[in-house]
Order: sequence, then C-alpha cells, then structure tokens
Amino acid sequence: MKIKKVYAVYFSPTGSSKKGVLSMARELASQMGAVVHEVNLTIPNKIAFSQEFGAEDVVVFGAPVYNGRLYIGSVERFARLKGAQTPCIVSVTYGNRHYDDALLEMYDLVKENGFLPFAAAALVAQHTFGDIQRGRPNEKDLKENREFAVRATKKLLKEKSVLEKVPGNKPYKEGGGGGSFVPQTKENCIGCGLCAENCPQQAICAADGYSIDPTRCISCFACIKYCPVNAKCMETPEYLAFAKKFSEQLAARRENEYFV
Ligand SMILES: Cc1cc2nc3c(=O)[nH]c(=O)nc-3n(C[C@H](O)[C@H](O)[C@H](O)COP(=O)(O)O)c2cc1C
Ligand code: SF4
Ligand code: SF4
Repeated sequence: MKIKKVYAVYFSPTGSSKKGVLSMARELASQMGAVVHEVNLTIPNKIAFSQEFGAEDVVVFGAPVYNGRLYIGSVERFARLKGAQTPCIVSVTYGNRHYDDALLEMYDLVKENGFLPFAAAALVAQHTFGDIQRGRPNEKDLKENREFAVRATKKLLKEKSVLEKVPGNKPYKEGGGGGSFVPQTKENCIGCGLCAENCPQQAICAADGYSIDPTRCISCFACIKYCPVNAKCMETPEYLAFAKKFSEQLAARRENEYFV
C-alpha cells in the first residue's frame, strides 16, 4: 500500500507519551520513506482542534493513563479527529502501576472515528508523582518501540488488517479524572509565562502572578516540568508523604507491552 504521510498525534503534559509516539512514528516513516507530521493536542489552543485523515495516511496515537483510563480532556481532543479507514497504531503511556482499561478505551475511540488500529502498545514511563521509574522511557524503551514499529510496518505492508483486540475490560473502570495535588508558585517566579502556555487546562493566569485555579487543575505537573527556574513545585507535607509511600509501593519495574 502507498503511504503518503505519517502523523504523530499525542496528548502529553509531561512529554513521556510524546517521546513514545515520536519514536514509533519516526521509525515507521523511515521504513516507508515518508515524513512525520506532529499534532500536539496538549496545549490549550488545540482543545478545539479538528482534522480529517485519509486512507493513505498512517497515524500513531499516544496519551497517558490517568487512573486506569484516558484523561477525559484527552478523549475530547482525540474525538475531534476523523479517519477514513485510516490505519493507525494506538499507544498509552503509564507510570509503572497499570494501564487497566485505557488502551482498550483508546482502541475503541479511534475505531469509532474511522481509524483502523493495526498495532498497539502499552508503554512504561516515569510516574508523574513520586520517584517511580525515573528516566523512563530510556534508550532501551525507545529501542523496543522502534523494533515494534518495524514489525508493525511489515504487517501493515503485507495485509491491511485490524488488530482483533487489546487488553482491557468493559464496562471500563471508573477513572480518567485528574489528581488533587495543586502545585505551588514560589517567589523566584520570573513571570515568563511558560507554565501557563503549557497548562492543558488553562488553569494558570498571568494576572494573578501565575498562580493556579484549583478547580481547573488536574495535577498533570506540566507546569512543574516546564518552569525554567523551579518556581512551580509540589512540596506540601501531605504530597511528600504520599509520594514516598507510593514510590515504595510501585518500585517493581514493569515492562512495555506490544500487540501486533
Ligand atoms: C492524575 C494522574 C493519574 C495517573 N494514573 C495512573 C495510573 O492509573 N496508572 C499508572 O501507571 N500511571 C498513572 N499516572 C502516571 C502517568 O500515566 C505517567 O506518568 C505518564 O507517563 C504521563 O504521561 P505524559 O508524560 O505523556 O504526560 C497518572 C498520572 C496522573 C497525573
Ligand atoms: S496548573 Fe495543574 S493542570 Fe495546569 S499544568 Fe499545572 S498541574 Fe497541570
Ligand atoms: S514557568 Fe515558572 S517562572 Fe515562568 S511564570 Fe511559570 S512559575 Fe513563573
């Protein structure tokens, strides 16, 4: 089959899903002699973004797992993308606990919108909270992703078939909401606005010194990641106690899973 474009489409507040999607999309594109087009649905100006894809495109989708499901705000974004029998890879990225029903949810969602998932991946990354699998996805993970993309490309070129099933249960478990940890803004804030630009919830406002609206915050920690002077932080005693215990509970390393 002739592939015109490979799209890397992701929602990724702290960048791990993005890394996974790009590693797979770039390998796929290089196998097919195509180029990668990036669609970053994370930033606030992409909330209402819509796009149609054709039968000669391939899309690699990726998003994080939030409480065993896709984050509800990412579902709204992905639902505005329409395929026309467009082949795709679905992936979810999770913080070493489990992905529960999130991969199935992603698989069902894109199928309903005209895409044909031919391969899938559940990828392990550093957890947003605590100190769990720090540095992942690392080089080993990205190499595994590329090897998977090679296998997936071979399958796609041989037979344009849909992946029969992925792990998960229906009805999906409750989940998909954010957390309750609202970061603090310290006095060394230089007012650069990067946190507000990268907050997927538009929860940070310049007018009040880049503080956070707790009713909008989902604890994605994008603001902490993007702040250049470490002025955004999560250092309450409650959080630190939770993070320590949580990190101990999830210390055992999990491996990436690939379905092709
Ligand atoms: C609110 C919230 C809920 C989460 N729930 C889960 C979960 O159920 N299982 C898990 O293993 N990781 C969970 N994580 C961790 C993220 O899935 C993980 O850190 C992921 O890599 C973040 O993706 P990103 O870097 O693309 O934003 C959760 C993170 C947040 C912020
Ligand atoms: S304010 Fe909340 S929702 Fe916005 S980036 Fe920070 S943690 Fe995420
Ligand atoms: S990114 Fe950091 S320094 Fe920049 S406005 Fe936000 S809190 Fe202040």
